[in-house]
Amino acid sequence: MFTANASAALKLVGEAFPFTADSRFTLLQDNHNSVQGIRLYADAAGAEVIYLPLDDDLRCDPAMDLPEAGDAPGLFALPAQSNFSGVQHPLSLVEKARGGGYDVLLDAAAFVPTSPLDLSAVPADFVCVSFYKMFGFPTGLGVLIARRDALARLRRPWFAGGTVEYVSVHEPRHRLRLGGEGFEDGTPNFLGIAAVSAGLRFLEDVGMEQIHERIHGLTERLIGILTSLRHANGRPAVELYGPTSTEDRGGAASFNLLDQDGAVVPYGQVERAAGDAGISLRGGCFCNPGVAEAALGLGRPEALECYESMPPGSFSLKELAECLDNEFAVGALRASVGIATNEQDLERLESLLQGFRR
Ligand SMILES: Cc1ncc(COP(=O)(O)O)c(C=O)c1O
Repeated sequence: MFTANASAALKLVGEAFPFTADSRFTLLQDNHNSVQGIRLYADAAGAEVIYLPLDDDLRCDPAMDLPEAGDAPGLFALPAQSNFSGVQHPLSLVEKARGGGYDVLLDAAAFVPTSPLDLSAVPADFVCVSFYKMFGFPTGLGVLIARRDALARLRRPWFAGGTVEYVSVHEPRHRLRLGGEGFEDGTPNFLGIAAVSAGLRFLEDVGMEQIHERIHGLTERLIGILTSLRHANGRPAVELYGPTSTEDRGGAASFNLLDQDGAVVPYGQVERAAGDAGISLRGGCFCNPGVAEAALGLGRPEALECYESMPPGSFSLKELAECLDNEFAVGALRASVGIATNEQDLERLESLLQGFRR
């Protein structure tokens, strides 16, 4: 089903999932906000929301005990790759959660641009993807891929143009179209959709395995740069969030710069300097509050108090930092490597970071 983006694909599942008061919505602490938001649908039905924790490396244990879904419909949400740390979570959890009675929602938005995903080996019930993240164009186009039996269990809370066989106004009746057609609301982005085949062919021509291997090499170099940067006094100049190994991780790394006394350099300064140098470093929490809480400690009581104290409309990470007396990092920097990245890009990043160290 074509959607406006990955978030819209996730919302299609969340709003239509038949949560009951006996249901469980179980998810990793590491999830994008567009997955986190599904908890409001679970809450509204009185379902239990269960978060699974991360370890110090921001990974989860594939051998962990999953709470069973029980007799009521249960949803398990897993990001194939963290958009914060780049960690690729164990895809074996898909089968495990299905075995525990869940329908599984796999957020593959950050994973598929540089890693092959075989849905016959990873039989998730619902998968979301966003095309511009894979081949840069078109923006505003995502997809929800669903198993037919899982799709049939969803209960759509509304209908729209294009999704119905008939609607009566005289009697409040309607019937949704069968399968995916019942989920594509309104006019699809047909001009964008026309570009998708070319994008997929491009990735296929280069070869997903080849892309994956190349990104692995570039990520190794990126991690090497970040972990080797030191001050003259021997102290590390970078705090890296997440694993230092390149096993089971994609091409993204999040970090903060530290000064020679170990204090965090405000990420905004580095982000601006990177922008001036023509380097795209993303700063902030990357719409991933669970990892931000695990990595930066943003779940501590004084941070929660600050959130509450800021009047609606006034929230920004800068305000949050001030409210917390600038005592700890409220955001991080993320460097990502992808199909378009080359070694010179990493050298330019390295010299930018070295400049900060001086
Ligand atoms: C892991 C992950 N999931 C979901 C999304 C949301 O994607 P979109 O912006 O296409 O809605 C993103 C966006 O960065 C992401 O990285």
